[in-house]
Amino acid sequence: MKTGNSNGSNRGLWATRLGFILAASGSAVGLGNVWKFPYITGQNGGGAFVLVYLLCIAVVGLPIMLTEFTIGRRTGLNPVGAFRALAPGTPWVVIGFMGVLAGFLILSFYSVVGGWTLAYVIKAVTGGMSTFTSPQIAGEFFGSFISDTPQVLLFHTAFMILTMGIVLRGIHGGIEKACDILMPTLVVMLLLLMVRSLTLDGAMEGVKFYLSPDFSKIDGSVILMAMGQAFFSLSLGMGCLITYASYLPPEENLTSATVYVVLFDTGIALLMGMVIFPAVFAVGMEPTEGPSLVFSVLPTVFTQMPFGFVVSIVFFILLAIAALTSAISLMEAVAAFFIDQFGWERKKAVWVMGATIYLFGIPSGLSFGLLADVKFFDKTFFDVVDNIASNYLLPLGGMLTAIFVGWWWGTDNAHKEIERHETTFRWAKAWEFLIKFVSPIAVFLVFLGHFF
Ligand code: TRP
Repeated sequence: MKTGNSNGSNRGLWATRLGFILAASGSAVGLGNVWKFPYITGQNGGGAFVLVYLLCIAVVGLPIMLTEFTIGRRTGLNPVGAFRALAPGTPWVVIGFMGVLAGFLILSFYSVVGGWTLAYVIKAVTGGMSTFTSPQIAGEFFGSFISDTPQVLLFHTAFMILTMGIVLRGIHGGIEKACDILMPTLVVMLLLLMVRSLTLDGAMEGVKFYLSPDFSKIDGSVILMAMGQAFFSLSLGMGCLITYASYLPPEENLTSATVYVVLFDTGIALLMGMVIFPAVFAVGMEPTEGPSLVFSVLPTVFTQMPFGFVVSIVFFILLAIAALTSAISLMEAVAAFFIDQFGWERKKAVWVMGATIYLFGIPSGLSFGLLADVKFFDKTFFDVVDNIASNYLLPLGGMLTAIFVGWWWGTDNAHKEIERHETTFRWAKAWEFLIKFVSPIAVFLVFLGHFF
């Protein structure tokens, strides 16, 4: 069995401990936090949803993240290689294949939305948002933009090229360097935006909506949404974090890395709520706007506030950065599979798979225009791909990973790996209980919710 870190010529290692934490945080923090979290919170009643989400993060997200980190560092391999190494000749390797497939699918549509963020950066910089004086006008622009074939393809292409460009430069030189700069910038930008939002007239209404839970809003479907969001936001269930942890030197403390990444990801999402809801209420809009919240409501908010021009630029740069550091991790997980399992050069893996994912993303990009009427079971291509990957492959992957470690590979083996190099795993008992029982059962219930 291949153990430890196989630091072959095509692989690499994180240079610093902080570099790994920033890169894993960069993977976790993305469109899921900045775009999706505020809009589904808005649609699901605000404060109450936030509480359920936090619960899911604590009992499912946290233990599964530690599990993925452990598998990654133990094997030093991509998801397929990792399961094959820990359970040779068994069907468990299917988890790895499902993961690589999920990464492929998620990146294909993620790049489309990432492209939208790039377009909005340009729109903001060129002052084009000054005409967005009402949410209707901004919404109309958004609608016509995402249905404009040449534009959508142009920005999808640009986003994919950026992603591939960084992953091509490898672990230390590309991904780690980029995240070292990008992640702290993101935090500073968000804090600035939050101050701007909170000092608007009428901002307190938004704070109230966001922070005071109305428990009558919590039902089965709210819990299911919160759980799915926890998986997506933390980059769990497809081996993305197995891959990132495979580049860890053995002395890394996995438990504290897990806590940092979870706190960082959750902190950014919560902060984002504090940016958006006060602003939305201050200008008298509805928090239930949906997926267009960021793209059509926020620009309107910007035009109605002092320094809105600067704020709009800052905000969309931030969104594009967050999307890019997540896309990088998806690309890396897919590339690592071809590098480790087929011995491909990094260059070849990134070019071949990047191009394939790009092509597969084209119909997703056209799903809001040219192909809007092409439906599969009543869903556009974009929605089908998103649905299969996010709602089925991720939770299934997470559940199976928990079962694999809890019941097959064994929590003792995992425990030993976590404690390699003298770190004491203080919450071992709690983690063991969560990973064996709570997480798999919770995810299983999510599944029942999807199917019935
Ligand atoms: N977590 C990222 C976000 O919030 C998206 C992402 C990156 C992801 N890698 C992933 C989601 C792996 C699921 C699995 O936008």
